Amino acid sequence: MDVLKAIHTRRTIFKFRPGGVPKEVIEKIFEAGLWAPNHHLTEPWRFVVLGEQTKEKLARRYAEIQEAKAAEGASDEAKGILKEAGYAKFMSKPTIVAVACLQDGDEVKNREDYAAACCAMQNVQLAAWAEGVGMQWSTGPITLEKNTYDALDINADKEYIIGFFYTGYPDEIPEPRRKPLDEVMSWTD
Ligand SMILES: Cc1cc2nc3c(=O)[nH]c(=O)nc-3n(C[C@H](O)[C@H](O)[C@H](O)COP(=O)(O)O)c2cc1C
Repeated sequence: MDVLKAIHTRRTIFKFRPGGVPKEVIEKIFEAGLWAPNHHLTEPWRFVVLGEQTKEKLARRYAEIQEAKAAEGASDEAKGILKEAGYAKFMSKPTIVAVACLQDGDEVKNREDYAAACCAMQNVQLAAWAEGVGMQWSTGPITLEKNTYDALDINADKEYIIGFFYTGYPDEIPEPRRKPLDEVMSWTD
């Protein structure tokens, strides 16, 4: 697929067809991340593909986080529904890949490593799209907890989890929305 076509047609995917993405496809997609620009060639990105046991463990924790969102005074039944829905939602993501970046330097290095890893993430999303694979870049409490770092063997003192990529073959492709260029671009004298 032409790069501009991939840029324009890629969408964040929330609904996936059942079935994970084969390992060789995952490797092909993430290999594209390695070619992102990165200052001083720090290659600050780290990709952790969740195995079934880890996914299940984090799904249970995700379910608790969702349950805790219940309104004050909510019934046990209402909380139980939120918990179950949270578990099912996490488990419905066919393949989950955590992306972390090095954060082991001074403020400038850390900022640049974060930026480089985000460039890698967009390379990955575009490569995935060209392979017919959809992704949702997801952030939130589950990506920030110490428990998650431990489960993924990511050292929270030196690395930062930028997000999870929920990955799979798209079941539904949302409609795109963007402001026109002239609303965000100006030219000086
Ligand atoms: C840093 C970052 C964090 C994001 N976190 C979430 C998230 O937690 N949940 C979500 O649904 N989408 C998340 N997204 C995806 C955006 O919501 C999505 O890119 C945006 O809605 C535009 O849609 P598009 O990717 O289809 O163009 C995130 C994107 C970025 C870059």
